Amino acid sequence: MPVHIDVLTLFPRMLDGFLAESILGKGLERGLLSVKVHDLRTWCTDKHRTADDRPFGGGAGMIMKPEPVFAAIEQLQKPGCRRIYLTPDGAPFSTKMAEELSKETHLVMLSGHYEGIDQRIRDTLIDQEISIGDYVLTNGTIAAAVVIDALSRFIPGVLGEEKSLTHESFTNKLLDFPQYTRPAEFRGMSIPSVLLSGNHAEIEKWRHAKSVEKTRSVRPDLLK
Ligand code: ADE
Repeated sequence: MPVHIDVLTLFPRMLDGFLAESILGKGLERGLLSVKVHDLRTWCTDKHRTADDRPFGGGAGMIMKPEPVFAAIEQLQKPGCRRIYLTPDGAPFSTKMAEELSKETHLVMLSGHYEGIDQRIRDTLIDQEISIGDYVLTNGTIAAAVVIDALSRFIPGVLGEEKSLTHESFTNKLLDFPQYTRPAEFRGMSIPSVLLSGNHAEIEKWRHAKSVEKTRSVRPDLLK
């Protein structure tokens, strides 16, 4: 069954272009996955559609209120679904997580805003907290987009060539080797001659060496 993703956000339009474009847009069109974006304000019942309030104990910033989030998730969740909260203090996102999430049948993604959300939401409604990196975005909507994009690549059929997954950065814990396309000479720069040799064993050896070299210089932590 293709994975269905419900995204809960205060900025639903941020995802319009993202979902319509590119490989992901085609995957959605072909029904290989489905994504529905929900405006959290739909579940804000007061006159001003308030989604946030001041923190107990004082301090700067506003906190997302529990009522609308509880109402929304309780309406959207189904048995067996995985409820994810996007937050800079979550577990670091990885290709392994993307692959695991691509095998789920139903994801509910909550993107956080303001200075945080009421802890009772996290304690009772959330199965997994994910951060896409050590920096703080203005809200989690783009983080949800990043997770959806990365997991979609593991859904069979989304990428044209299944092969393109096996060779890439992170799948093998090594960064990518350099790639070239025509013309073989451009503005005086020629491509490495091994790539024109037709010797596949030599090409593989060269690519592996380049991957190791690149990984050692940019991400030595991956080699440990
Ligand atoms: N919301 C704000 N910053 C974030 C981050 N780095 N990862 C996930 N969600 C976020």
